[in-house]
Amino acid sequence: MQSSQQPWIPASFFPVSPLILVPEALGDFSVYLRQGREFVLYSRSGEKFTQHQRVKLFESGVDEVYVQTVEKPCFDEYLEENLGDILGDESLPVEERSRLFYDTSAGVIRDAFNEKLPPRLVEEKFNRVRAVVRQSTAFFRDERALRTVAPFIHHDYKSYTHSLQVFVYSVSLLATFELDEEEMYEYGLGAMLHDIGKTRIPSKILNKRGALTREERTLVQTHSVQGVAMCAGLDISQRTFNSILFHHERMDGKGYPSGIGGEDIPLAVRCITIADIYDALTSNRPYAPAMRPYDALILMRNEMATAIDLEAYKRFIKLLSGANMV
Ligand SMILES: [Fe+2]
Repeated sequence: MQSSQQPWIPASFFPVSPLILVPEALGDFSVYLRQGREFVLYSRSGEKFTQHQRVKLFESGVDEVYVQTVEKPCFDEYLEENLGDILGDESLPVEERSRLFYDTSAGVIRDAFNEKLPPRLVEEKFNRVRAVVRQSTAFFRDERALRTVAPFIHHDYKSYTHSLQVFVYSVSLLATFELDEEEMYEYGLGAMLHDIGKTRIPSKILNKRGALTREERTLVQTHSVQGVAMCAGLDISQRTFNSILFHHERMDGKGYPSGIGGEDIPLAVRCITIADIYDALTSNRPYAPAMRPYDALILMRNEMATAIDLEAYKRFIKLLSGANMV
């Protein structure tokens, strides 16, 4: 999509598929067609882009239209607002939808984790995360979604990519259970926000290369409670709170913060825990290199058998195998 990958496109424009232009919903950006080396205005910012135009472009064999780079923020906002419609559009190749999902949601979750925004904007950040989750959980009921998102998965650990990837693995796994849309959304939001409390832990501790001291480890372990505290004033369901609070609990009751175990931990949270562990193990972290998927799964079985839900773990392996990820 970036012009750097296609040198013949000047930096002032970037290409998009006309199929992602949702009729009647275009934002504040203009759409251009390319004729040789010229870019011709096709649809002006603020004008209605109609279904007729969209079909006509497609039928004329136009598989790329162009947006000016200076209007990319408006284009990204448009994607964010229309993500659900775009992800549900079967006329768009699933690989393209997966890429748009990853790019758009990564931008939103990065803002939620990284920006030191004033408190009045916390709710706005949260609402953006919520909207992305609301619009994308259904996509992961499609078995092709995980396989086509897989190439975008990052293996260098960052809080926001980890959160996004735990969301992807979790909702893909949850889709194999009989959950309704609301449960998928609420637990999906929990998966996306599970580590939000880490934004309150000093990064020099989170990124420390060596072993943590006892005090440091205790501080890091407060992140699940801190995450709940951060979300206390927001419109969040009990299921989402439980996901944030209990994602480090263990089946044998030796987890934190409360030491609950077995079926006292909601099944969906046990799935989030498996996704969390797997993504961490397969990512390069300051204190350990990324493991290969197969090795990570073996380690989970051999060293965490009493900690994780083995039935959900088996389903997770099946899911990864089906997506050609292991
Ligand atoms: Fe965590």
